[in-house]
Amino acid sequence: MINPRLEIIAAVAANGVIGRSGQLPWNLPDDMRFFMKTTLGHAVIMGRKTFESLEMPLSRRRIIIVSRTLTNVPSGVEHAGTLDEAIRLAEDSAGPIFVAGGGVLYEAALPIVGTMRLTELDEAFEGDARFPAWDRSQWRLAEAIRHEADAKHSTGFRFCTYYRIQ
Ligand SMILES: NC(=O)c1ccc[n+]([C@@H]2O[C@H](COP(=O)([O-])OP(=O)(O)OC[C@H]3O[C@@H](n4cnc5c(N)ncnc54)[C@H](OP(=O)(O)O)[C@@H]3O)[C@@H](O)[C@H]2O)c1
Repeated sequence: MINPRLEIIAAVAANGVIGRSGQLPWNLPDDMRFFMKTTLGHAVIMGRKTFESLEMPLSRRRIIIVSRTLTNVPSGVEHAGTLDEAIRLAEDSAGPIFVAGGGVLYEAALPIVGTMRLTELDEAFEGDARFPAWDRSQWRLAEAIRHEADAKHSTGFRFCTYYRIQ
């Protein structure tokens, strides 16, 4: 069952890579700014490994970690044992509910999200975490905003918004 409030937010290399050795394989400050601005004030669901990869706490948004193994829940965040439980917890938050990775959690969420906000990178990167395969014919590209490579961004990219075709 599609949950129209659920939105995937991800940055994806041209070859589908999203992560390497528990980190992002790139440094794209304007994409990080986009993530921070888009998720501000909303519920953000993430997998345990993505939470562990954060370099700093994400304030001013509700963080729900999905994990079957987490025992000591860090202060200021919530824990759910399944994606369904995380969504139930998030449902009393206003607005969209973001699914912020990583690869394992995107795979679980892809069949039930209504929107994807994908930063699509021009370049391929080496990595060990990937965005799941998805069928473009099932999605409508509603917006694509171009960002060229520059001194702070080694690759160009597009901020793309996709809506699932009902
Ligand atoms: N490019 C991007 O936009 C982006 C975004 C986020 C992350 N990343 C990158 O992705 C990499 C991490 O991704 P990953 O795939 O290795 O790990 P992940 O999805 O962040 O975390 C996997 C862990 O989360 C828990 N989990 C995930 N789905 C679950 C479910 N449906 N039910 C219960 N538990 C679930 C499990 O934790 P337990 O083992 O504790 O049960 C699982 O081992 C890092 O390199 C990170 O930097 C990239």
